[in-house]
Amino acid sequence: MKKLVLVTGGTGYIGSHTAVELIKSGYQVLIADNLMNSRIEVLEGIREITGTRPYFEEFDLCDMQKLNACCRKYKNIEAIIHFAALKAVGESVSHPLEYYENNLVSMINLLKAMRDFQIPNLVFSSSCTVYGQPEVLPVTEEAPVQKAASPYGNTKQISEEMIADFLATDDGYRAISLRYFNPVGAHQSALIGEYPIGPPLNLIPIITQTLIGKRSELHVFGNDYDTPDGTGIRDYIYVVDLARAHVAAINRLTGQAGTEPFEVFNLGTGKGLSVLEIIRTFEKVLQRKVNYKISPRRPGDIGCIYADASKANKVLGWEATTPLEEVVLSSWHWEQQIKRKSIL
Ligand code: NAD
Ligand code: UFG
Repeated sequence: MKKLVLVTGGTGYIGSHTAVELIKSGYQVLIADNLMNSRIEVLEGIREITGTRPYFEEFDLCDMQKLNACCRKYKNIEAIIHFAALKAVGESVSHPLEYYENNLVSMINLLKAMRDFQIPNLVFSSSCTVYGQPEVLPVTEEAPVQKAASPYGNTKQISEEMIADFLATDDGYRAISLRYFNPVGAHQSALIGEYPIGPPLNLIPIITQTLIGKRSELHVFGNDYDTPDGTGIRDYIYVVDLARAHVAAINRLTGQAGTEPFEVFNLGTGKGLSVLEIIRTFEKVLQRKVNYKISPRRPGDIGCIYADASKANKVLGWEATTPLEEVVLSSWHWEQQIKRKSIL
């Protein structure tokens, strides 16, 4: 029988790509999402790509009664992948309480559901923001978790601590925390991609919106960081490569490989690129100019971070392999698809 994985936030950006990879790898997928930042049509995109429509339950994970009802209905959940969260670094600085409430109450509720319904395995969407501005680059999992630069980053740190404390209560539970660097791009089919409810706040969709004429210009947040061109450096990882890492993590947990109850992995490419380098790559691949201007730094941002992802390679057998040029094209095809959707 196929193993059932509960994917919270599964109609969202990374969750939908992961649902596709899980189905392709032989898992059954149950998505729980309140659609606060995603759309129901995503389920159709997943079906078109895989031939299978995942189970879907619409509710807020902060509502324990609804979460209990969901776990009662689907009795045989083998593992949870917990994507559901608010995720914008800058926005969390202006709306800290909303971030703490949504991200932490949903986390507590899921851990209670694991306890009450004997769900043994959890994969958690963490972030490189837990490292703050690391002193040594590329950053390994051994780097100290530093005071978070934003409330969002703090919710990831606190969630990881809550998971560790919960796992210490019983031998039966296991968890893997995946610390993503910057996920980008869209599925090659252009049937799913990043399609938030409000305006996107991340760099790549803002670049493609500027290129397609939805925005007049891109603001580059700061050119006075301690980096070669002064703009922020990040490690941009293709979302489908990232999704494949979740399948590897689920295989490891459900296959009972490894002995540690709680493992942490960095997921990145190992290469840091500045905002200006990303803009230049889009311009080169698409042969179009990006209209941008230098603006002040964005609150909550750090200057430079990129991953040492060798642990994920060694232990999970995973590696980010997709070249940036392909990622750029997938982002552009997706932006054109969004334009078509909004005209229809
Ligand atoms: P997303 O906003 O596209 O997806 C999150 C989904 O969770 C959305 O569909 C939203 O409707 C849902 N959701 C949020 N709160 C909910 C709640 N209380 N109950 C039910 N559903 C809820 O975001 P994403 O980019 O796919 O990110 C997924 C996860 O990965 C998040 O935990 C995020 O913090 C983490 N992460 C994202 C990035 C990134 O750059 N995208 C980087 C590092 C970590
Ligand atoms: N940037 C701009 N202009 C913009 C948007 C972004 O210059 O309009 C810059 C930022 O200052 C930063 C870089 O582009 O230097 C990347 O910014 P993003 O907003 O795309 O991504 P962040 O690194 O701030 O955060 C993202 C996710 C978080 C996640 C983090 C690390 O939003 O959820 O990556 O994984 F935690």
